[in-house]
Amino acid sequence: MLEKFSKWKANRAESVPSYTMDAATQAIPKHVAIIMDGNGRWAKQKGLPRIAGHREGMKVVNKIVRKANEVKIDVLTLYAFSTENWKRPKTEVDYLMKLPERFLSMELPKLIEENVQVRLMGSLENLPDHTLRAVMTAVEATKENDGLILNFALNYGSRYEMIKAIKEIATKVEAGLLNTESINEEVLEQHLMTSDLRDPDLLIRTSGEIRLSNFMLWQLAYSEFWFTDVLWPDFTEQHFAEAIAEYQKRARRYGGV
Ligand code: FPP
Repeated sequence: MLEKFSKWKANRAESVPSYTMDAATQAIPKHVAIIMDGNGRWAKQKGLPRIAGHREGMKVVNKIVRKANEVKIDVLTLYAFSTENWKRPKTEVDYLMKLPERFLSMELPKLIEENVQVRLMGSLENLPDHTLRAVMTAVEATKENDGLILNFALNYGSRYEMIKAIKEIATKVEAGLLNTESINEEVLEQHLMTSDLRDPDLLIRTSGEIRLSNFMLWQLAYSEFWFTDVLWPDFTEQHFAEAIAEYQKRARRYGGV
């Protein structure tokens, strides 16, 4: 019996991915971005309506935020609703728009206590008042916190973001505040919605889809990508740890040698 247990323990130690917390070597990714995909398929597999998948997905958000805080990640960006998601059936969109307030009504006190700073990245146009109010209340209530930045990409699309930035730059050029020659990467970055955030070090996408779906196209230029077949509602802290462990094995060269 004891032998069996030791064997099990040894195997388990092998199978559990371990990551190091050596911040000095930048081994823990500082900014992790996640495309939380597969809620609909998860629900379908269980014979449930799609919104049941989103409800379960919200619970996973909670677990991963806690884990990200625990391992001292600086920024966690979550793709909660894209500029393309408006094409979904109205009942689903309405439900998705209720999730931020549901989540925050339960979790805001804990987020405040845990020094998390909530942010919103996306277009404020078209967001229902109740959604905007809930998120802005959390943004306001946590703005002095200097722990984990929890950045919700809500009504976010990278192409929209870039066009908005280009328009702002063009307006400055027209007004004589900027000359065309001085436009460089830094100038464009200053006009993106991530202007005061570092680029993601690690991108995670669940559900087996291998694409970016209009998510942070500029910012992900040199990020490490980690894809898993696991559907978002089944994603656990363990999978998150696996992604970090895999990230730590990668050699980042940024185009160098
Ligand atoms: C993609 O799965 C998921 C979304 C469009 C919504 C993601 C939202 C959550 C995980 C909850 C967000 C929680 C908060 C607190 C804002 P899908 O519906 O496209 O899945 P499918 O590809 O299997 O159909």
